[in-house]
Amino acid sequence: MNVNLAGKRALVTGANSGLGRAIALALGAAGARVVIDYVSEPEAAEEVAFALRADGAEAMTFLADVSNTDEVSGMFAALDARWGGIDVLVNNAGIDGERALGWEANVDAWRRVLEIDLLGPFLCAHEALRRMVAQGSGVIINVTSVHEVIPWTGYSAYTAAKAGLSMLTKTLAQEAAPHGVRVLALAPGAIRTPINEAVWSDRDALADLLTKIPMNRLGTPEEIGAMAALLASDAASYVSGSTVFVDGAMTAYPSFAHGG
Ligand code: BGC
Repeated sequence: MNVNLAGKRALVTGANSGLGRAIALALGAAGARVVIDYVSEPEAAEEVAFALRADGAEAMTFLADVSNTDEVSGMFAALDARWGGIDVLVNNAGIDGERALGWEANVDAWRRVLEIDLLGPFLCAHEALRRMVAQGSGVIINVTSVHEVIPWTGYSAYTAAKAGLSMLTKTLAQEAAPHGVRVLALAPGAIRTPINEAVWSDRDALADLLTKIPMNRLGTPEEIGAMAALLASDAASYVSGSTVFVDGAMTAYPSFAHGG
């Protein structure tokens, strides 16, 4: 099996913390050169770059809001100038948004979740695909969520964005396949990162969350990073257009472990 990304030029969005950080480190460990995109906490992005370099990988940081067309095209222009293009794009940047029922939600906040979680991946894929289709190779991994299929009260923007990203993945995969480019989705379950710290740091909330996970534990960012590296590599050369769930069986209807 070949999980070797030697020389591959990779961009990971939202790579200064959580899943993005772990994915960037895993791609670098497999030999890729990595751009660490971020929108805040530049020192955290530099720390990831430092860790990658210490591990022998090339790395650069770039400040770009994925929902901003000009900033995204500027980032790809910088990639062209530095490494001459891109081989692997991981659309990871995303936010859950504030919990609010549909009829109580602030419409601007709702729209912002869609801009970051759905428009952002499209803008990055749009730039990446122009380059990948021209060179006849490349891989795009869209980080969705179990919530591309599981509804989640209070998070209608997030679930709509993730379900939309899943269908965007399939459509772009269909378009890009004849050009040697794979597009797929990686759907994490509950992984211990800053995004859900309020849940795993609260005893009752954690106990409730664990009832939803047959494996009875949260996942680790490293478990997502490892799968991202595998999917980006030739070990996954026939995987495109589908979603790989890494969720401890969260999508396996855990409430049916009894009764029914
Ligand atoms: C969310 C987390 C949540 C998990 C499981 C993820 O997509 O970002 O906040 O814990 O889904 O519900």
